[in-house]
Amino acid sequence: MKTGIFYGSTTGTTESVAKRIGVALGVDEKDIINVKKASPASVGDYDLIILGCSTWGSGDMQSDMHDFLDGVQALDLEGKKVAFFGCGNEKMAKTFCNGVGYMYDMMRPTRANFIGSYPAEVYSFKHTEAERDGSIVGLLIDDTNHPDLTEPRIKQWVSVLKEEE
Ligand SMILES: Cc1cc2nc3c(=O)[nH]c(=O)nc-3n(C[C@H](O)[C@H](O)[C@H](O)COP(=O)(O)O)c2cc1C
Repeated sequence: MKTGIFYGSTTGTTESVAKRIGVALGVDEKDIINVKKASPASVGDYDLIILGCSTWGSGDMQSDMHDFLDGVQALDLEGKKVAFFGCGNEKMAKTFCNGVGYMYDMMRPTRANFIGSYPAEVYSFKHTEAERDGSIVGLLIDDTNHPDLTEPRIKQWVSVLKEEE
């Protein structure tokens, strides 16, 4: 199973988390890709596509990822697996990591199989678009307030991905 990690990052946090996930999963550096420099069709090179972005503005998806998924959402990805992660700040409690939920919505038309949900109870927020049916559609990281939790959460999520891939 070939894995590609695609990230959109404005100040480098999601980039750094993408690289840490890559190390934990054993993904080659060349397959950890900034979406700013990638063509949407390149997701077709991978069996497991991991998408990561941050949340900006008043709860918006990071802009490079939004532009990228505009192209990706037109592709037929049936038979491929997709997993989501995102970086945000729990203190922005009403829009915590909304971008992850918006990525999920944009990817629904592709018919890919989504994997890698994560328990909602471990986070402290009032609302996130990333919560569906009581769980989070992917891994959320708050590296600003809880940098100590970043590594254990990555490890736990990667073990889920390995079971589901
Ligand atoms: C102006 C501004 C708005 C933000 N809005 C949100 C938000 O609505 N929800 C959230 O969870 N985080 C929000 N954040 C926090 C960022 O998503 C967080 O710092 C993230 O780690 C940045 O990742 P990046 O460097 O990969 O872009 C905001 C940060 C700033 C500076």
